[in-house]
Amino acid sequence: MYKIDIDYFDEVTSTNEVLRQMALDGEEPGKTVVAWKQTAGRGRLGRTFESPRGGIYISMLLEADSSMTLTAKAGVAAKRAIEEITDRKVQIKWVNDILYKGRKVAGILAQGIGDLVVVGIGINFNTDLKALGPELKDSASSLYNSWEEPDSDSMDLVNSLVRHMYDLAGDSDQSWLREYRAASAVMGKKVRVFQAGRQTGSGVVTGIDDNCALHVLDEKKGEMILSTGEITIRLD
Ligand code: BTN
Repeated sequence: MYKIDIDYFDEVTSTNEVLRQMALDGEEPGKTVVAWKQTAGRGRLGRTFESPRGGIYISMLLEADSSMTLTAKAGVAAKRAIEEITDRKVQIKWVNDILYKGRKVAGILAQGIGDLVVVGIGINFNTDLKALGPELKDSASSLYNSWEEPDSDSMDLVNSLVRHMYDLAGDSDQSWLREYRAASAVMGKKVRVFQAGRQTGSGVVTGIDDNCALHVLDEKKGEMILSTGEITIRLD
């Protein structure tokens, strides 16, 4: 059982970075940082994560698990929270993107610190799409688009997400994996696989195994089992 302790900030560089520093200073698992804006939000593969006002940016400190599993659990937690608090139905694009109507509305970044992990989740909740920049205009979206100050819905979403994430992290039962698979936006779909920016395969997704690795039946290579955080897939 985690003892959850949430700090709220109006604006930070990166909630992952703030929480990483807190962990180095001795904070314990359960510590959580929430901000309504980030000036240096971090994404996967060294990218930046655009984090304007209207979004919700959360980082949670947890005991280490396989980072693939924690990332996938974070996807399930985000889906549960979004569907509990809003009227939007979302899907999970392996391994860590949350899609609404086929566009990304949330991303997840897990970063290890010794035997702890910071799991960061950014949600485009009420985000003005113009504030995300032109390069995301075809791939990103927001759950809502009427920018307002953080309100009780934002707080409800934070509380629901935090509760689901810490519950799932302590859950050794595998039933959440069924939820993850059922929510998948890629199962049975044709995808292209990229590693270090280069296309390394293409084929149909045949499954997600118990370690959260993605199985793709490549037209030339046969079965590919994708399990590192350095892989990107694109839906055809
Ligand atoms: C990705 O989609 O590439 C991952 C994005 C993760 C963004 C979140 S927002 C909260 C936390 N703080 C960060 O700087 N990054 C994560």
